[in-house]
Amino acid sequence: MPDFAEVADGLRMPLVDAMQTQRAVRRLRPDPVDDEIVLELLRLATKAPTGGNLQGWEFLVVRDPDAKHQLARLNRQAWSLYRRIARSRARGDLAQARILAAVQWQADHLEDAPVIVVACLHGRVWPSSMGKASFFGSIFPAVQNLLLAARAVGLGATLTTLPLWSRTLARRTLGLPAGITPCAVVPLGWPMRGGYGPNTRRPVEEVVHLDRFGNRPYLGAPTAISSE
Ligand SMILES: Cc1cc2nc3c(=O)[nH]c(=O)nc-3n(C[C@H](O)[C@H](O)[C@H](O)COP(=O)(O)O)c2cc1C
Repeated sequence: MPDFAEVADGLRMPLVDAMQTQRAVRRLRPDPVDDEIVLELLRLATKAPTGGNLQGWEFLVVRDPDAKHQLARLNRQAWSLYRRIARSRARGDLAQARILAAVQWQADHLEDAPVIVVACLHGRVWPSSMGKASFFGSIFPAVQNLLLAARAVGLGATLTTLPLWSRTLARRTLGLPAGITPCAVVPLGWPMRGGYGPNTRRPVEEVVHLDRFGNRPYLGAPTAISSE
């Protein structure tokens, strides 16, 4: 399996290419992933902003088979409930059906991912809406950096939250003190299939509003940067 020196060049890929091709890569090979690669990805993750620059993050790099098995169990428990809703929503939609098949594959094999990163924050979720935004807003930029860096080196990754359906059980599994909140779980591994490629999103002109919600003068305007 490649070491850091072999994949480091990937980090020089144009940002726009990384953003346009970063997507959930769930089918992962069990082959090992070098610690140096994981550490470099996390170094880049921690270049993200946090509220008040508090940097109250902690990242668990889970390689222990028992801990991975427990996370996989938690994921399966949540998925067994959520899957019913997702399947009825996806009825007749081929693209959604493909995603659900990948999520099912991940649920069946999560413990085989060589590395599972759990992104955590000091403190607990604050009750107010501003509090919640500031709290989770202080970890997801770092998680997105991690996903982009993984994409750049060709390492498969997915942002997941299903394994965190019970914070108590997740805390117990990972030995987290009560003051540390797990926020995202990112399995990492070399892709089993092609891996990354163009992601599909709603057109920007459709989701941008000028001054007031509903005023969408950009509808129909050409996009400035696009490789699709
Ligand atoms: C907050 C959040 C939670 C997510 N939780 C899960 C999850 O538990 N399991 C999973 O397989 N994917 C999860 N995803 C990944 C999304 O399903 C995925 O990003 C979306 O379907 C778009 O797919 P794409 O990036 O491959 O285009 C999550 C994404 C976000 C932003």
